[in-house]
Amino acid sequence: MTTIQKDTQYVWHPFDIYKSENLLVKKAKGIYIYLQDGRKIIDGISSWWVNLHGHRNPKITNAIAKQLRYFEHVIFAGFTHTPAIHLAQNLCQCLPGNMKKIFFSDNGSTSVEVALKMTIQYWHNKKIKKHTIVAIEGAYHGDTFGAMSVADRGSFNIPFEPYLFDVLFIPFPENKDSISNFNDICKNNNVAAFIYEPIVQGSAGMRIYDAKILQKLLEIAQKYEVLCVADEVMSGFGRTQTLFASQQCDIKPDIICLSKGLTGGYLPLGATAVNEKILLQFQSTAIENIFLHGHSYTANPLACAAAMASLQITLSQNCANQRNDIAEWHSEFIAYINSKNYPLKRIESCGTILVLEIDNQVDTSYFNSLREYLYQEFLNRDILLRPLGNIIYVLPPYCITKKEMKKIYNAIDEVLDGLKI
Ligand SMILES: Cc1ncc(COP(=O)(O)O)c(C=O)c1O
Repeated sequence: MTTIQKDTQYVWHPFDIYKSENLLVKKAKGIYIYLQDGRKIIDGISSWWVNLHGHRNPKITNAIAKQLRYFEHVIFAGFTHTPAIHLAQNLCQCLPGNMKKIFFSDNGSTSVEVALKMTIQYWHNKKIKKHTIVAIEGAYHGDTFGAMSVADRGSFNIPFEPYLFDVLFIPFPENKDSISNFNDICKNNNVAAFIYEPIVQGSAGMRIYDAKILQKLLEIAQKYEVLCVADEVMSGFGRTQTLFASQQCDIKPDIICLSKGLTGGYLPLGATAVNEKILLQFQSTAIENIFLHGHSYTANPLACAAAMASLQITLSQNCANQRNDIAEWHSEFIAYINSKNYPLKRIESCGTILVLEIDNQVDTSYFNSLREYLYQEFLNRDILLRPLGNIIYVLPPYCITKKEMKKIYNAIDEVLDGLKI
């Protein structure tokens, strides 16, 4: 049996299609994934949006190696360690909204679960009956039950629908409807929390929206004393021009969820940051007021060391320049594509994110028939892009060069040119 046959036999991959064949990776370096069969693939989506600074970045690798000389992991209840303290302090200092503490967990979904549980318990501790949670249509916040509950009720969670808690959804913030809708909901319900992906909904198809509309929503939330949870799992760490997307609004969230780029793509780690208002409601010795939540690998020291090294790189002037360059190249490419007559419903960018929505005369959807075709076309050109149905997006590691980026642009141009619609 070949290694790939063993993979098919024994390993259950995410979003697995029965008997699908996966590509066997030998090594990865910089923006490249090297396959066992000798091919060298450009990682155009930062391996599911986690790998900010390229694979095997020496600074992050060394930080992990250094930490390994001391200890790999210890219980985080009753014990603590410098990597977690150092990271928490630095995150609080660079996050918007005057964040006071960081609660560590394992991934994006758990950072959202933690945030949701905190908002619910916040009102419980205050002895105020506020139970309604509001989210945005199209949202994706992860695959655990709380995260699924606040996400769009589409094909991804049909089997689980009866088990998801009730959430009110407002229209995608592209016009005034969502503002008036949100206002009505807040006026007529005891809304506990509003959760949103600031500026861009990732999995929904890199749907970008105006910070001004988000600002209006946050003003309403503030008026009705609704806790605001910004899910920056995807948008965090420089993806959207600012370091965090929440910086683009004057009103800041009470809670921010982080993961993905947090460790630069090295190790799984989730972080939920809270402001003083949230913290105050948990400063109690009464058992029922304590936040009784914890994961075995909470604040894993290797992950915290990687995250600190990744944050330092992200905060450097060099990395800021890289992000600005990518944003500029995207704009130039958009102007070029707009001069062509391709069947597109949309082409736009937000910081380092580029998105093109193909019009193939059917509804935009993750299950659009173009998905498989596009994925293969890019792989045939040694580029990893994972289109969301008929939506092509690029979310490159920040260290990509102009020449390498051009390879991706050329491939997109070629693929669009070859489309038979
Ligand atoms: C905005 C957002 N929140 C949460 C998640 C879930 O993160 P994870 O896959 O690490 O559980 C994702 C994943 O794509 C995401 O984009």
